[in-house]
Amino acid sequence: CDLQGLWRNELGSNMTLVALNTAGIFSGFYHTAVATTNKQILVSPLQGTQQHPSAKGHTTFGFTVQWQFSDSITAFVGQCFVDHRGKETLETMWLLREEVPSHRDTWKATRVGTSIFTRIK
Ligand code: BTN
Repeated sequence: CDLQGLWRNELGSNMTLVALNTAGIFSGFYHTAVATTNKQILVSPLQGTQQHPSAKGHTTFGFTVQWQFSDSITAFVGQCFVDHRGKETLETMWLLREEVPSHRDTWKATRVGTSIFTRIK
């Protein structure tokens, strides 16, 4: 699929993806609907790479969100699927790494989850 566009996941988070070049590098912005902190949520930049960008197939991709309101980082990996009606979804898994004061706290520093995005534009 074409990853470019506006996407929303099951939490109500929105992201805009923009292709930067034909090598599969893309960037964008992520507006999360939820957060682990009580700080005000800010729209945050993302950087990613798509495998086989010119192929019509079910492309794999990964991207990282650098949160502008917390010290955490989230890395998403996923694949785009198109159903028989032409509806596109991005099926992803993510790791959210929190900054912890000491390596003794590493055990609680990473959250994991799955997320499905559908195109809204
Ligand atoms: C933070 O809480 O430190 C930053 C925001 C993290 C939002 C997470 S990333 C994975 C999950 N999917 C979303 O759309 N938002 C949450």
